[in-house]
Amino acid sequence: MTDLAGTLQQEHLTIRDSLDLVGALVDALDRGVVPPAEDLNAVLDFMDNFTDRSHRAKEEAVFSELVRTSDASVRPLIHRLEVEHARTRQIVSALHALVPRVEGGDPRARQDFEMYLRSYRMRTRDHIREETRHLMPLVESATRSPGHERMVRELGRIEGQDSEERILRRSREAIQRLASKYSVRVRDAA
Ligand SMILES: [Fe+2]
Ligand SMILES: [Fe+2]
Repeated sequence: MTDLAGTLQQEHLTIRDSLDLVGALVDALDRGVVPPAEDLNAVLDFMDNFTDRSHRAKEEAVFSELVRTSDASVRPLIHRLEVEHARTRQIVSALHALVPRVEGGDPRARQDFEMYLRSYRMRTRDHIREETRHLMPLVESATRSPGHERMVRELGRIEGQDSEERILRRSREAIQRLASKYSVRVRDAA
């Protein structure tokens, strides 16, 4: 049986590695060094493919099931987490839009890019902390509920989508490659 909470927690570790890399990019920008567009785009691709499209989609499938099967007390937490998912998506699209101007040497764009990266890193860290403290215990206690089967099926569906595995592997490998370039320690790819 799929360990739902374990899967999500494992993904949180990978996301935290990517946040360490984001920290290294912020430090570089802070020193006036603009990383090449391909490095910036690789980190943004990871945010899009791994953190948002895959991990967030799985969590939101879990959210709907928890809202359906638990009492109303879970709703404020789920609402906060969903709002935060939407907010970080907006930040990632703002980052994407800034890349050409950052590469073009626009100092204002560089400043904004750095500010958005810092905000993304801080928010995502806090978000993972909140999920670890408050969401994971709910997911764990749902293991014996009838909704659990549906959550597992939905996770399997998201992971089994066409080319999903290949895209996720490529995103993780890009993070590993950049981690060694920017001297950040990350876990080995699973
Ligand atoms: Fe989340
Ligand atoms: Fe998460």
